Amino acid sequence: MITKKLEINYIEYNSIEELSAEDRELMEKAIEALDGSYAPYSDFNVAAAVRLSDGTIVTGANQENIAYPSGLCAERTAIFAAHAQFPQQDISAIAIVSSQEDKLLPTPIAPCGACRQVMAESQMRAGKPLRVLLGGSGKVVEFSSIEGILPYIFNNEEVKKRRRGK
Ligand code: THU
Repeated sequence: MITKKLEINYIEYNSIEELSAEDRELMEKAIEALDGSYAPYSDFNVAAAVRLSDGTIVTGANQENIAYPSGLCAERTAIFAAHAQFPQQDISAIAIVSSQEDKLLPTPIAPCGACRQVMAESQMRAGKPLRVLLGGSGKVVEFSSIEGILPYIFNNEEVKKRRRGK
C-alpha cells in the first residue's frame, strides 16, 4: 500500500488587466455575455466564452427553467453551441464569469462537476490542453488544462476505443 499525492498548479492574476491581450478579450466577451443570462429563479448570472482554434469566440450564459433541471449552465451553453456550429474546430480556452445584481463578482466561481466533465470531453476531442480562466472583478485564476479542475479524470481506454473519428 502506498499513499499518493496529487498536486495542482494554477496561476492567480490580480486583475483582468494582467492577462494576455487574447485572454483579456476572451474574458471581456464572457463579461458581455452576462447580458444573455436568464436566471429569474437563482438571480445568479453566469457567462462563458470559449476560444476556438481559429480564434473564433463563442459565448453562452446560464438559461434557467421553471422545471429547474431543464435549465443549463453557462459553460455547457457556450461549449455545446461552439461544437454544434463549428464541429471541426477545437476549443483551446474557456473564460467563466458571474454576477449578481448586475455586479461582476470579485472572486471567481468554480464550475460545477457536470460542466467540468463536458470540458473534459472538449479537451479529449481536441487532443490538447484546454485552458480554463475563472474570472472575477478582483482576481482571475488560470488552469493550464482540465486536469487542474477535474483531477483523477475518467479515462477508460475501452470506452475511448468506441469513439468514432479522431
Ligand atoms: N451555474 C452556471 O451557469 N455555471 C456553473 O458552473 C455553476 C452554476 C448556474 C446554474 C444556475 O442557473 C445558477 O448558476 C445557480 O446555480
